[in-house]
Amino acid sequence: MSNEAAGLLKHFLEQRQVAGQTHVVLKPGMLDRLKQRGKPSRPAQPDVPMVSLPMQSRAAMPQPAPKPTAQPAPSTSPKSSAAVASLSSTDKVALIEVTGQTKAEKLAALAAHAGASSTIQALGTLRPILVSASGSPDADILFIGEAPGMEEEEAGQPFMGPAGQKLTGIITAMGLKREAVYLTHFCKQRPAIKGEQGIANRAATDQEMRAFLPYILTEISIVAPKVVIVLGPAVAGALSLGESMIRLRGKFHQVQGIQTIVTFHPNYILREEKLAGGGLKAKRELWEDMLKVMQTVGLPISEKQSNYFKK
Ligand code: URA
Repeated sequence: MSNEAAGLLKHFLEQRQVAGQTHVVLKPGMLDRLKQRGKPSRPAQPDVPMVSLPMQSRAAMPQPAPKPTAQPAPSTSPKSSAAVASLSSTDKVALIEVTGQTKAEKLAALAAHAGASSTIQALGTLRPILVSASGSPDADILFIGEAPGMEEEEAGQPFMGPAGQKLTGIITAMGLKREAVYLTHFCKQRPAIKGEQGIANRAATDQEMRAFLPYILTEISIVAPKVVIVLGPAVAGALSLGESMIRLRGKFHQVQGIQTIVTFHPNYILREEKLAGGGLKAKRELWEDMLKVMQTVGLPISEKQSNYFKK
């Protein structure tokens, strides 16, 4: 196998791991397709056999090495580029027209629109319950997760399981209450698994994420927070920001003209915590992202807060 093919295959497998899969099926002709694309994408087929995992094992991971993407490369180093915003190409996507006087009314109309969407229903790969967002429509900070799992579907709210507890801890450390921020999912219905799904969750496919793109962009525009926080590379990829955490972290991007930071998914932190070192490095990196957000929205930062997760 050539170096190029090995590199593409390695990247593909890393992406599958990020999406939570522990097994992949390598189909004939796949390498040729990967070569044509230059960069492999997430699987578009929900039927691809996969091992079902509980949500907490489906952690988002940082990319081990920067890979070329369609995004323009950052022109400055991560340290000096905190104020440099890169635009998401999703800014050209048509938003959904919704009526309503208040943000809450508009968001309710948007949720009803998504619930009635024939495009989403036609996928036939998502469970029927639409999981609403939670928190304040007037929030300065909007967090985006990937898709609901079992706990979120049952509660009808984002981030209710172990990842949710971790996220609540992060929000609390920022000096905020969960109700003061806005929490939402990119893909608003739990991805279905054929047969007896039970507690198993799976990552949303590209196709499923794409179906919700106009919705999440409209949602961001309605809430119009000061900062959007993207949790993990799957959501970043679906927003056309790229999927390399190494490239994405540490600087602001722009989505719908709003300052957007990409950080680790709480599931990734949960997994890192179980490793030697207790995930201190990842926690500090995530925390540095949160400090940037706090500074941008004008939250006070105590000395104690600025030193969290330092050795
Ligand atoms: N992962 C997500 O992206 N969202 C949740 O609500 C839970 C886990």
